[in-house]
Amino acid sequence: MGAGIAQTLATAGYATQVYDVQPTGLERASNQIRQQLDSAVAKGKLTAEAADKIFSRIDFTDDLQSCLADLFIEAIIERMEDKVALFNQLAELNHSECIFASNTSSLSITALSKQIQHPERVIGLHFFNPAHLMKLVEVISTTDTDPTIADTAWAFIESIGKVPVRCLDTPGFIVNRVARPYYIQAMRLVENGNASTEMIDRIMESAGFKLGPFKLTDLIGQDVNLAVSRSVYEQLGQPERLRPSPLQEQLVEQGKLGRKSGEGFYRY
Ligand SMILES: NC(=O)c1ccc[n+]([C@@H]2O[C@H](COP(=O)([O-])OP(=O)(O)OC[C@H]3O[C@@H](n4cnc5c(N)ncnc54)[C@H](O)[C@@H]3O)[C@@H](O)[C@H]2O)c1
Repeated sequence: MGAGIAQTLATAGYATQVYDVQPTGLERASNQIRQQLDSAVAKGKLTAEAADKIFSRIDFTDDLQSCLADLFIEAIIERMEDKVALFNQLAELNHSECIFASNTSSLSITALSKQIQHPERVIGLHFFNPAHLMKLVEVISTTDTDPTIADTAWAFIESIGKVPVRCLDTPGFIVNRVARPYYIQAMRLVENGNASTEMIDRIMESAGFKLGPFKLTDLIGQDVNLAVSRSVYEQLGQPERLRPSPLQEQLVEQGKLGRKSGEGFYRY
């Protein structure tokens, strides 16, 4: 997600930095952005010069000390303590007005902001996958978010050509809350031997969905989708209908994370 968000920002003209703790994460991000830009050139949507210019606006680094900015959008592992640690480290390094935005799919922005040195500067900016194409961004303020920060974040999202929508800080916000049964009920049918993954995907796509639930979770990443399912399930008081699927747990245990690892419900 970080790569797609960075590509969007650089395309809109912003000087952008991508930070990852893992060199492989940086390499993956750089390759992904380069491939997307090259493909836009091949399709005649961008000139080669414009693509190079966009790419040159992005700096890739594994040095946290060099991360100085007005706005941070974290898209790291879906784990509260990691997000809290990262924002607090960045707060130490940066000026007193920078904004801390989280791309979390399911963690409470309020719970996150309460653990950050500057809760009034924390907001949720939830992009969708693939981030360089999908227009919607959910914007989640908390009762602590400074209204001028919320206005700035809103204007920023519009400035990069996306469509912001205000959401309350409820588990899964809007899209992930509504979409959860799409994945979990489909997995339940397969667990119970009622239908195959291919059959369900084919039927849902022929019913008008862009991607069936199994292809979609392979695109999202099985690890990320499972983390979101667990988080929403716990926050809503463990309702049976949203109990995470053992099928997905098995895939994650086996490292079959979907497109990003070469295999999930399907092989790539
Ligand atoms: N995958 C999706 O479709 C999707 C959509 C919307 C939001 N999100 C959210 O975006 C976030 C990232 O999801 P993703 O699918 O891009 O995950 P991913 O596993 O593909 O990428 C996460 C990257 O973060 C890096 N990372 C982990 N811990 C770090 C740390 N402490 N500091 C810096 N880098 C760190 C990893 O090395 C990895 O490269 C999650 O919060 C997820 O809920 C994901």
